[in-house]
Amino acid sequence: MMKMTRLMAGLTILTVGGTAVTLMAAEKVGIEEVMKKGFKGKPALVAKVSEGKASSDEAKKFLELVKNLGTNNPPHGDAASWKAKTDAIVKAAEGVVAGTKGATDELRAATNCKACHNVHNPQ
Ligand code: HEC
Repeated sequence: MMKMTRLMAGLTILTVGGTAVTLMAAEKVGIEEVMKKGFKGKPALVAKVSEGKASSDEAKKFLELVKNLGTNNPPHGDAASWKAKTDAIVKAAEGVVAGTKGATDELRAATNCKACHNVHNPQ
């Protein structure tokens, strides 16, 4: 009887540990990864979404990606500017997912590569 209880307690800890690892892995997506998956390429996901050519699944995927920007610190530039820019992208992407009129224009303006790179990724 004692043995059985101990075995079960051990299994519980294992399960909880497994969940914690999965959650942590899913949590953090870095800026470079967001750029690679959402901003780079031809056609880039950002271009499709801001031209209104993305499917609803693609728009949702883009929204999930850009939500990660604000949780990262940019390599350059100040935090207030970064927050303003990344918040504007998320807001516009939410508008596109919701089908709000004018949201694609808003997203195109908010995702201007040069305007952001000049401040936060100068090279
Ligand atoms: C809100 C700001 C912002 C916008 C808008 C933005 N970028 Fe970036 N991008 C960054 C930052 C910051 C980095 C540097 C990431 C790092 O080095 O940690 C970066 C890095 C990159 C990289 C290098 C990632 C790699 O290692 O492969 C590419 C490529 C890139 N951006 C493409 C684009 C393109 C194309 C656009 C426009 C369609 C764009 N970005 C718009 C902030 C932005």
